[in-house]
Amino acid sequence: MGAQTHGHGHGHGGGHGHTHDGIDWSTRIGFLRREDAVAEEANAGIADRLVGRLPDQATVVDIGSGAGGQAAAFARVLAARGGGRIVLVDAVPELLDAAAEAVRHALGGGAAAESVTVEQVCVDAASDELLRQTPEADLVWASRVVHHLPDEQGGVRRLARLVRAGGWLALAEGGLTTRYLPWDIGIGAPGLQDRLNAARDEWFAAMRAEMPDAVRMPYGWGVALAEAGLAEVTSFSVLTDHPAPAGPAVREAVVEWLTALSERMDEKLSESDRDTVKALLDPAADTYVGARDDIFLLSASTVYVGRRA
Ligand SMILES: C[S@@+](CC[C@H](N)C(=O)[O-])C[C@H]1O[C@@H](n2cnc3c(N)ncnc32)[C@H](O)[C@@H]1O
Repeated sequence: MGAQTHGHGHGHGGGHGHTHDGIDWSTRIGFLRREDAVAEEANAGIADRLVGRLPDQATVVDIGSGAGGQAAAFARVLAARGGGRIVLVDAVPELLDAAAEAVRHALGGGAAAESVTVEQVCVDAASDELLRQTPEADLVWASRVVHHLPDEQGGVRRLARLVRAGGWLALAEGGLTTRYLPWDIGIGAPGLQDRLNAARDEWFAAMRAEMPDAVRMPYGWGVALAEAGLAEVTSFSVLTDHPAPAGPAVREAVVEWLTALSERMDEKLSESDRDTVKALLDPAADTYVGARDDIFLLSASTVYVGRRA
């Protein structure tokens, strides 16, 4: 886990790079890029579905844009409809640069690139500074970031204030945790995937519990959107489904998830599961997970949407 960056006005250049979760996101660029690579189809489906309801020349704000995979998908759809504006918002400058690069790459050159303007805003989404630095939008998109804010409901309320009348706030939160291993992998006890996912849940709960000034939000995201004054609240879920035998991007993602798990959640696993994970991650061994033809990737992301009247 990275350096603690709690508190305002210290570390990372005058408050830039500040998040509340104790995670050094600047070290996660490669990881987020690989996640974007395997989610490309899901991201494209989400962009079609959400941008399709926006007016011409729409403004889309992406809060916690990470490595920019979803912003790139939004940009492609905006360009296909004659253009628009993408505003990338993140607390971490290195990620903003990576996201802008991903969007530029998606747009290619020529008319498509010129029809979409791309802006970057480096700000803490948990502070009201967000409202001063970020323009109002037809779509405010926030994927897997609100759960990194101490006050999730307060965060949703703040994001709702960025939405223009008639526009939408969409939160990608929850869904079904990614699965990638068969039930019996032939090393250790069967059912490792469920125990790994349980360790991940424990890590997540600890991340929230240890966050300074964390407030619990004891209800679902649709209720949070309604509570923020939004109407027409609903949700849909998008599947990421890469069957076995998996291509190189899925193999890399699986190796990376297991590596991250073993680094961050080791103490939450039994000794025998730790040995299994070690065997799976040894590229020289015939147990190496990256060389297996039975790994796959299956997950579902849920997108909660609400409209500002
Ligand atoms: C789990 S990543 C999600 C990235 C991307 N939205 C996705 O779904 O792949 C969380 C992102 O939120 C950013 N982030 C975390 N806390 C933040 C905060 N307080 N303000 C703004 N961005 C934040 C991180 O820098 C990172 O880019």
